[in-house]
Amino acid sequence: MHSAAMDAFVAEVDARTDILQVVQSYVPMKRRGNRYWGCCPFHHEKTPSFSVVPDKGFFYCFGCHAGGNAFKFISLIENVTYFEAIKMQAEKLGIPMPERERTPEQQARDAQYANLRRVNTMARDFFHNCLTLTRYGEPGRQYLAGRGISEATIKEFSLGFAPASWDMLSKAFLKREVPAQVLVEAGLAAERRQGDGLYDRFRGRVIIPIADIRGRVVGFGGRVLDDSKPKYLNTPETILFNKRRLLFGLDRSHRAIQDAGYAIVVEGYMDAISVFEGGVHNVVATLGTAFTEDHAKLLLQYTPNICFCYDSDAAGQNATIRALGIIQHTGANVRVIVVPDGKDPDEFIRRHGADAFRQLARDAQDLVTYRLRYALAHIPADSPQGKSEIVRAMAPVLDGVQDASKRLEYEKQIAQALLLDEGIVRTELRRFARQEAPVSVGEERAPVRQAAPRPDNAVLAAGRVVIGAVCHTPERLAELSGELPPEALQDNVQREILQYLQGEYSAGRTPDMAQATATLSEAASDELTRALTEENAPGGEAQAYADSVRVLRRDWLTRQREAHSRAANAASQQGDAARAMQELSAVRTITQQLQSL
Ligand code: UTP
Ligand code: MN
Repeated sequence: MHSAAMDAFVAEVDARTDILQVVQSYVPMKRRGNRYWGCCPFHHEKTPSFSVVPDKGFFYCFGCHAGGNAFKFISLIENVTYFEAIKMQAEKLGIPMPERERTPEQQARDAQYANLRRVNTMARDFFHNCLTLTRYGEPGRQYLAGRGISEATIKEFSLGFAPASWDMLSKAFLKREVPAQVLVEAGLAAERRQGDGLYDRFRGRVIIPIADIRGRVVGFGGRVLDDSKPKYLNTPETILFNKRRLLFGLDRSHRAIQDAGYAIVVEGYMDAISVFEGGVHNVVATLGTAFTEDHAKLLLQYTPNICFCYDSDAAGQNATIRALGIIQHTGANVRVIVVPDGKDPDEFIRRHGADAFRQLARDAQDLVTYRLRYALAHIPADSPQGKSEIVRAMAPVLDGVQDASKRLEYEKQIAQALLLDEGIVRTELRRFARQEAPVSVGEERAPVRQAAPRPDNAVLAAGRVVIGAVCHTPERLAELSGELPPEALQDNVQREILQYLQGEYSAGRTPDMAQATATLSEAASDELTRALTEENAPGGEAQAYADSVRVLRRDWLTRQREAHSRAANAASQQGDAARAMQELSAVRTITQQLQSL
């Protein structure tokens, strides 16, 4: 959707947007100097560390490091994409979107989506009315009452009943001029094998409508009333219904997830409904498929904290372990709610009540503890091989733990459980972690809104000063590329920013901050904002810039010197004297450069 008209549209919305006005419509702000301050809407706090610098067009929170331009703010607070935020703001300002040229194929596709959405909504109402208003719905009403589902919940989830007839829905919908083809495409009906006509897919089942995040019905799950098989029948994959990307209940629960600060993931619709009925609203369910990375990304838009609560039987435990494997590199903070005595969350909450369930959630085990208990339950730990196997199983899990002190704590925990020396466990974990194909540098991670603050140090701070200074005075980039090329930065987020800035500058463009935020990765765009909004050290910008370039050069040269010195050692061990001399000479040159800094 890239066109000159679209660029002009975005530029106009950007130019006419006043960030202070945008922010103040959500958060009261008070002026101090050239900044405005308020309490951060993205994390809980009592003293304001959230600031807006209107002339720079940026907001930044010194507490949780959320930051960016006005569109970023809207996208965070409204939980929409960056582009949707631009559109929302355009609507507020009364700036019309440029008309898009639609090809006939695109128009046909739009019509297909619209038809499917419409027929799905019709079907939801048909099933719901059948359950609540007709005599056909009686078996469904009895079934749900028997499971303790209240009328309020039936209404909240628009639960329904598909009458035990071959074609009641098809007939009714054909009469209302829904084309047969649309009924089939929506997965509501299929063509009869013999003879003409359609038959209904869902018959004699309680119906659970499944919506996308915006609450639009995209499919259905249908449960039998007895023990016959299959227990659940679902809408087949359609252009709207992709089980790997949908989470049941998210349209209702995303606010509760943000408020509670974590999401509970259960395996079944009925679990989600029951837990919701019990008053715990921050819950979603997968749709009878394994938890996917897409699911993780979806949830991470609302919270970094994800809590699995699968059935406590063997199948549920295995599914939990698989889900943990999927999620451990996405940056999520994962815990596991263990439901006692072989129950699923639905049975548990019905028997013991919502308070007991809330207590289970409070007692949730962290990822490492759960994984370790699972390993200990499945691998005998009394032989050296068994111990080694357990450490191997734990290596990728620990690899995902960013916090160094936490990691130490876990290493201790594993060592104690295996009656091993802590040092040995640590060495083994590192060894296995290297074998397990670690996440490569720069690999895309799911966006984590309130990501744990990045570890900070003097080098990173210097990097930000340099980035901020070259944004301010792009001419500095000409000289900088010789002294400090982007690859000199060790931090890949800062490297991405400097590369971008250099690229723009070399192409003869003045780096534009709104454009940068839209182009850069989430982490880079956050870091750029931080660089632009942090106060400079006393002594003025020029001084801070020169000092910081020096800090970064020293860091870079030191790393190069170490690499050459390692290479020299290796060469002399291999008896390659010429190569060793060469490397040592490089070490000397760098040492001189370091001394003259
Ligand atoms: P479960 O069998 O654990 O369902 O399947 P449940 O939630 O406990 O069901 P109740 O309490 O007996 O009604 C979990 C999920 O797996 C999918 C469904 O999405 C279900 O919610 N599933 C299960 C199917 O798609 N088909 C099936 O035949 C069974
Ligand atoms: Mn169940």
